[in-house]
Amino acid sequence: MLAKEKPSKALRWLGKQLFNRENPAAFFDPLLESLNPMWVRGYTPARVEQVLEETADTKTFILKPTQRWSGFEAGQHVNICTEIDGRRHTRPFSLSSSPVLWQEQGVITLTIKRLPGGLVTNWLHDRLKVGAVLGMSDAFGDFLIPEPAAPVLFIAGGSGITPILSQLETMATQDYRAPITLLYFVRTHDDVIAGSQLKALAARYPALTLNIVATHEGAGPRYLSDEDLATVPGLKARKAFLCGPRGLMELAEHLLRGRGIQQSDIHCTFFAAPSAGLSDQAVGGQVQFTESSLEVGSQGDANLLEIAEAAGLSPRYGCRMGICHQCSCRKTSGTVINRLTGQPSGPGEEMVQLCISIPQGPVSIEA
Ligand code: FES
Repeated sequence: MLAKEKPSKALRWLGKQLFNRENPAAFFDPLLESLNPMWVRGYTPARVEQVLEETADTKTFILKPTQRWSGFEAGQHVNICTEIDGRRHTRPFSLSSSPVLWQEQGVITLTIKRLPGGLVTNWLHDRLKVGAVLGMSDAFGDFLIPEPAAPVLFIAGGSGITPILSQLETMATQDYRAPITLLYFVRTHDDVIAGSQLKALAARYPALTLNIVATHEGAGPRYLSDEDLATVPGLKARKAFLCGPRGLMELAEHLLRGRGIQQSDIHCTFFAAPSAGLSDQAVGGQVQFTESSLEVGSQGDANLLEIAEAAGLSPRYGCRMGICHQCSCRKTSGTVINRLTGQPSGPGEEMVQLCISIPQGPVSIEA
């Protein structure tokens, strides 16, 4: 009888990696990255299936991620990683399709507006063609449909409609049983994104009341007003979801609070991290990255993620706007200001989100 030979150390290691079910990416991603730099850890390749024109400056990209992608909930975002002139760029975008489309057909959509001077959005519009492959992160964000069902007021401005499109499609498919109102602000009717889709939704889903407001047609600019809110039945019982330009969001929040809506019932998602009340605070300081044995000075309102990157470090990050928590690190000492709230942290040990933490004096971070 032949003696069973013990596998070599190298073979045992290889076997362990291949059957590492908890994190197969730890083995495969470095191999994939050497074939295609887009296939980096944490990113799933997604192929462009179709590109649709929505308005003069907005396109919908239909993407097919590989099956290893973990899916999403309506209202969430993904980071898209692309290479432009040899440099990798990452930007967050909202998913505009319903999770049902992903479950049934294995595709998702991103509806993206061309931003004046925006490197990535312009590249996507001008250069991204059917058949190209992008890197796509896992989905993140808590701009989610309330469960159990509750009356909802959506207020959207411009391309801020995109996560709400996903939510409305999902609510209609699930026959979400509560009154839903959408106030959608656009400059002119030519700027309405997914206009026919919205009208079709309102026609097949009677719970939805659709009100599209053109702000720059007619006599003069027309913005969200208290009268608009007065037309929403049972406003006080509604959960409010806001997505759009900062001015609209701040105005909406102010008017809703004025009508007695609790802050906890107002949910916002931003195009970029807002900065609250930093102008009158002294910020900046010496930052020590303890794991890297690196100390750098910062001035102005640079956040810890930007400071780390400028120092040549590559901390993990996702949205870069305080949503996904992927950049969370332990602060061992010092004070940081939260860019979203304007509030200072305590001086001691705690977890902080690098992308929205601005040092105020000396700070030590485990990174
Ligand atoms: S990168 Fe998403 S919270 Fe900081």
